[in-house]
Amino acid sequence: MSSIIPVGIAGIGSYAPERVVPNAHFEEFLDTSDEWIVQRTGIKERRFVAAGENTSHMCLAAARKALEAAGVTGEELDMIIVGTVSPDQQLPAVANLVQVGLGATKAACFDVNAACTGFLTSLVTAESFIAAGRARRVLVLGAETLSRFIDFTDRGSCILFGDGAGAAVLMPHADCGQGEILRSTMGSDGEGYSVIEMPAGGSGRPASHETVEAREHFLKVHGRDVYRFAVAKIASLVREMLEGHTLDEVSVVVPHQVNRRIIDSAVEKLDIPPEKVVINIDRYGNTSAASVPLALDEALRDGRIEKDKLVIMAAFGAGLSWGGALVRW
Ligand code: UT7
Repeated sequence: MSSIIPVGIAGIGSYAPERVVPNAHFEEFLDTSDEWIVQRTGIKERRFVAAGENTSHMCLAAARKALEAAGVTGEELDMIIVGTVSPDQQLPAVANLVQVGLGATKAACFDVNAACTGFLTSLVTAESFIAAGRARRVLVLGAETLSRFIDFTDRGSCILFGDGAGAAVLMPHADCGQGEILRSTMGSDGEGYSVIEMPAGGSGRPASHETVEAREHFLKVHGRDVYRFAVAKIASLVREMLEGHTLDEVSVVVPHQVNRRIIDSAVEKLDIPPEKVVINIDRYGNTSAASVPLALDEALRDGRIEKDKLVIMAAFGAGLSWGGALVRW
């Protein structure tokens, strides 16, 4: 989909909690090992929030950095969109807490439930509002506190996830002269509804003693099904975003940090030089909606994103859902 008013990313920022949790932590109460986790996932450590620290706090920390980078104040924002599946409360939206924290009194605020695709889905939504002339300054976030929703008795899933937040400020490209979104996409396949889920707590299975005892308020992941889907989806998203361009024009590809082996398989299929692929899963694990903006921000700070060269983002997750973007930085 191409924009009517071209849209640019004016500034980004990210935040990860201070507490570092190495793989050895899981060895204390599960039949697992640092060696297994590193070999099968590439994860060495992840960050977990402190007591009292919630998704909205991480959003605010990341948002303040993105606003500063973009030279935009909270009052100037027309809209705040937070991609998250681990909001502070079931309702209202985290975006409303971000609004109060930033003094963004004229912003329309809502959350997007698209799991690991949350940041990309929010970005494409913001892009569409700006492209249509219905908003001029939009703050987009991907943020998760999955440490509060993982089942620490399930060794197949609890070792995968971490907490964090990433933010971007979007505006008409003419106003910021950088980060032009050249192409973007999003899609879904509801046939995969049960592949990654949190079964209880909704209208289908409201919270009860039974749902708590059955541990149905935690994330359930069918890892092998995700594995197959993920390798194919990274490859097809990158191909779609790259159409009409060559890899020489690309500074970095930023894939969802799902599993080091999944990313490596996709990169091999695509023949992308490994140095162009941003990987930080070793230090953050899978932070779901925060994963792409955290990695993007790290790549920018490390000087890996060259001005006027292309950046490809590719994410996928529960739903099943996926999203991608091609940006000229
Ligand atoms: O962003 C979307 C959410 N993320 C995902 O859905 C994750 C995607 N999937 C994956 O990353 C991988 O499938 C996993 C890391 C979850 C699992 O890796 P795998 O290579 O697909 O392993 P597997 O599920 O085929 O399991 C192999 C063995 C099993 O034992 P048996 O049945 O062969 O005896 C598991 O029980 O490894 C066992 N296992 C573990 N062993 C030690 C599973 N988790 C662990 C563990 N430590 N933490």
